[in-house]
This record gives sequence, C-alpha cells and structure tokens, in this order.
Amino acid sequence: MSDSYTPTPEDRFSFGLWTVGWQGVDVFGGPVRDPLDPIESVHRLAELGAAAVTFHDDDLVPDDTERQTTLDKFTKALSDTGLHVEMATTNLFGHAAFKDGALTANDRDVRRYALSKLLRNLDLAAELGAGTYVLWGGREGAESGASKDVAAALDRYRESMNLLCEYVVEQGYDIRFAIEPKPNEPRGDILLPTIGHALAFIGELDRPELVGLNPEVGHEEMAGLNYAHGITQALWHDKLFHIDLNGQHGPRYDQDLRFGAGNLRGAFWTVDAIEGAGSGKAYDGYVHFDFKPPRTEDMDGVWESARACMRNYLILRSRVRAFRADPEVQEALTASRVDQLAVPTLAAGESLAALREEKHDIDAMAARGMGFERLDQLAMEHLLGAR
Ligand code: GCO
Ligand code: MN
Ligand code: MN
Repeated sequence: MSDSYTPTPEDRFSFGLWTVGWQGVDVFGGPVRDPLDPIESVHRLAELGAAAVTFHDDDLVPDDTERQTTLDKFTKALSDTGLHVEMATTNLFGHAAFKDGALTANDRDVRRYALSKLLRNLDLAAELGAGTYVLWGGREGAESGASKDVAAALDRYRESMNLLCEYVVEQGYDIRFAIEPKPNEPRGDILLPTIGHALAFIGELDRPELVGLNPEVGHEEMAGLNYAHGITQALWHDKLFHIDLNGQHGPRYDQDLRFGAGNLRGAFWTVDAIEGAGSGKAYDGYVHFDFKPPRTEDMDGVWESARACMRNYLILRSRVRAFRADPEVQEALTASRVDQLAVPTLAAGESLAALREEKHDIDAMAARGMGFERLDQLAMEHLLGAR
C-alpha cells in the first residue's frame, strides 16, 4: 500500500541499527527476539523508504575478528540499496569497564581506553562517510554525592572533546560532533542532562564550531521539558546538528516509543519546529529515529513500528503545513499578536531616555485578551483531522 504518507529517500529518514535490532533486554528480563543481522536491517529499512542508517561501533563490528568481512558485507548492502551512513557513535556504556563512565570515569585507565575506542570508530565513521558523530554520555554521571567530582569530570569531558576535535581537524575528516543530553538512566544523574547544560558546555570548548547537539524527544520530556522549545533554541544557536525522534509519556523511565506515540501534541509542535514552520529557521539534517520496538513485538511488529515512525512524521508534517497555511490560523496568529514579537522593542534611532519617559496605558494593555485558546484549538483541530 502506498499513499501520500509513504516515505521516500527524499524525506531523509534514518534509523539506528540498534533500534530495530533491539532484542528487548531490560533490567527485568532477557531477550525476546533473535539477533538481527545489520545487513537485513539495511535491506528492510531501504524497502520501507529510509535514506540512511546509523550505528555504534559494537552494533556492526562487536569484535575485531570478523571486522573486514562484516564491513565488506555492510558496504555492499549500502551500495545495493543506496542507503547512506549519516551518523556513527561509540558504545561507551555497555561493557562493565564503563560502569563509572567513559570519558569522565574516575579511573584514568578507563578514560584512556574510552578515548582510544572512540578514535578507532571515528576512523570508521569517516571511511563510511558519516558527517555527524554522536556522543551520548549514558554512564557519565553518578548515583551519590562524593563519588564524582563534577567540576573535574567536566574538565575531563572538555579535555576529551578538545582532543577529538583536534583529531578530526588533523585527519581532515568532514565530521562534526553532536552531544546527546539525557537527565538520568542508566546513571542516577547524568552529566550534561539537558539541551541547556550541553549548550553552555559547548561554549567552553576550543573549537565550539565543531560541536553541536543531538537532542532526543524522550530525554527532554523525562525532565519535564518542552522538546520543540529545546530544539528551537538549539537552532537559534546554530547547534542543532542532529535529532533523535521517539515518543515518551511524560516524566518516567526512558520509553523510546515510536515517534508520535506518547506525547502526540508535543510531536505536532516538534515537527512544526523541525520544519521551521513558525520561526522560519528549519532543521536541515537527517530525521533520525532512536526508538525501541516494545518487547511485546515479534519481527513483524518491529518493522511495523519502524514504518510507523516515518508515517507519523509525514502525517504530522501534512497537518503542520495545513495548520500554517490555513487563512483562519494566520488571522488568529495576528490576533494573538504573534507577529509583533518579531519587531524590536526599541525602534532604530530611538533613545532609552525617551522610552523612559513614555506614557503607557497599562489598563488598556491589561484588558486586551491574547486569543491563545482560539489559536491552540485551531492547531488541535488540524492535528485531529477536523479541519
Ligand atoms: C538511550 C540513548 C541512546 C543513544 C545512542 C547513540 O537513551 O539509550 O538515546 O540510544 O542515542 O547510544 O549515542
Ligand atoms: Mn532514549
Ligand atoms: Mn538517543
């Protein structure tokens, strides 16, 4: 079945190999699905209309023995299907050696091993043409107060980021780094927990232009934050290098639901933000999904959930476009004075001294309603397909 919500490579959808390949291991139970061959994932995702895949070193080449054979098969699958590798990342959380983190582990040997693992996979990322390298510091954090010197940990995080940027420049790689914030899980508290923390950290690096963000829907929502606002601010700073889309039902464990599940209204505004429909500044990278097909699903359910991530994006995109194009919405936006916010508060050539003495009718201002309920109801009706 093909309709207007059927994805094509022009939509630039991308999936982590670890998403469809997740075997369902959680803290309470073992695998519910067999291992999935990355080659099969490449073929299935291409059939579904995706444009690219992403991977952790360990998703593709978990041990060195079969490395070249695996890579040969993988690159053949890529060229047979036309899929790209747009992003790569390092597994710095799975092995027991990373129990206290990787780049910020107290144990210096662990930090040195982590950095070397990263460098090796950066070479592979460059070889496969990935333009973005994600760093998700899942184990960079603590469960208790005195166990982590947070300032020293940030020094070490910065040291590693500076070294990695240096390496990429030296090697002449066309790669930018994207830090993925997360507030907690698997650590009790993770360093760089939100978009805001990560943005401030990037400002302290030697080459901030090489480092941006990879915000994930669920991670911001776990902290009760507004993802659409977060990525819009990242765009405002020119720091939205990549995105991880998925679904989440409010503050609780990281659900990694398919995109559109969970906070559906949040997903509508997320697509609106990505498309730059409100602000005019759009995200122009790959639309990457980082979700986990629930443990209840067999392989048919896995592919169905991957397909649904893309369909939900396209359905929401059409709803967002219809909302923004609706004349009544445009009229409601003006009535809500949304356009006034683009006008500088002080006009060119105006003096603060004159403003200081300006007379204001504050009772008239206080009496003016904002009309936001009407505007939001119009959005709701577009989202629900009632307009
Ligand atoms: C999670 C994270 C990871 C990262 C991935 C890429 O909560 O498990 O979102 O899936 O995105 O490791 O760095
Ligand atoms: Mn997640
Ligand atoms: Mn993620």
